[in-house]
Amino acid sequence: MEDQSRVVGGLPDFMEQRLARFQNFVISEWGGRHIFRSQPFTPGDLVLCTNDYLSISNNKDIVDAQCASLREHGAGLMMSSLFNQDPNDALRRVEQTLADAVGAAEGVLTQSGYCANIGLMQAIACPGRPVYIDVIAHASLHAGIRFAGATTVLFRHNDISDLSAKISKDGAGIVVIDSIYSTNGSLAPMRDIVDLAHNRGCLMVVDESHSFGTHGLHGRGLVAGLGLAGKVDFVTVSLAKAYCSRAGFIACPRGFRDYFGFESLPAIFSSSLLPHDVAGIRAAHEVVIGEERRRDRLHSLTRYIRCGLASMGYPVGTDGEQIVALEVGSDLRAAEVRDILEDHGIFGSLFTPPATSKGRSLVRLSLHAGLSDCDVDRLMTTLRNLRVAVRLSTWSGVVRTHH
Ligand SMILES: Cc1ncc(COP(=O)(O)O)c(C=O)c1O
Repeated sequence: MEDQSRVVGGLPDFMEQRLARFQNFVISEWGGRHIFRSQPFTPGDLVLCTNDYLSISNNKDIVDAQCASLREHGAGLMMSSLFNQDPNDALRRVEQTLADAVGAAEGVLTQSGYCANIGLMQAIACPGRPVYIDVIAHASLHAGIRFAGATTVLFRHNDISDLSAKISKDGAGIVVIDSIYSTNGSLAPMRDIVDLAHNRGCLMVVDESHSFGTHGLHGRGLVAGLGLAGKVDFVTVSLAKAYCSRAGFIACPRGFRDYFGFESLPAIFSSSLLPHDVAGIRAAHEVVIGEERRRDRLHSLTRYIRCGLASMGYPVGTDGEQIVALEVGSDLRAAEVRDILEDHGIFGSLFTPPATSKGRSLVRLSLHAGLSDCDVDRLMTTLRNLRVAVRLSTWSGVVRTHH
């Protein structure tokens, strides 16, 4: 019998209505234009929308390693990594190399940082056990908690007293933070939070996506760099930032890797990384550990640009890291600011809800070590000249995400 809910040639009504809601939103809120459509890059543009913080995406050793692997292995085996139990496999060896770098006993490579966070939260959180999470921690961590059916207890961004009060009220659970926050580059007060979690008998999870490769000696990240490896139970990483690889990683205690492979749905029901992904990660790791000069460059230009923008009156804060948020307000105004910057050859990323809360849309500039002194001068001169056109909302120090 024919489905009566179908409109002729179209989708069922419930889906048509959802599509219509989106189209009406684009018309009423965005004036009919999809605001994420921006201009294509042209030669000489300052591309500040990539998270290739050390500027290694075209590194010859990494590209050669991937090409050689493709030639040798083809695309590899199309199967879940659960079926790969060979301890000498290249994937297992890279996992151990990265775990050693973080200072953990074991590690698991995942298909993305998103899969790492969803999979980990699903494997460690459960109904009835509170998960204390910084309100602006990455959306994938929040989604993982929901996926696990656990109770989310939000604490105010970087607010240790709020976290402490909430643990006193609800008891031991899991504490989840980012080391560096992806919307505004703010740095977590990691020592204090880790000590608090440790003293209250909580499990500690740190997402190091924006610090692995860029912070700590040899880019080992902030957990290792601050000597906190013994007190942090799990470190998660998107390798699609400083490592320029399509993958994620979880550094974990001994015995967890096998458990994860049988517990985490993305590990069981989604296919493994391919040999050339793994070869790329191995090569990227060698490049990253040797790039102390690029890390120094990234940190010094971050300080210079943040201080310079603050002195021009941009409400960006001087103590954050390599992600600089120009918080604008409404979606449309943020898109306008993005367009103004693009007209001057500066390409940032537009962030609107659900990546920010309503009315807190922003343009994010991701700084990278490949910027020359001339590039930095050009960026600063342009932003000085545009100071009036680029009106920003008052800096509150926090860009709340909507979850
Ligand atoms: C802090 C953080 N965690 C996780 C992710 C997800 O990483 P991926 O792009 O590898 O899925 C991102 C990327 O946006 C991120 O910024």
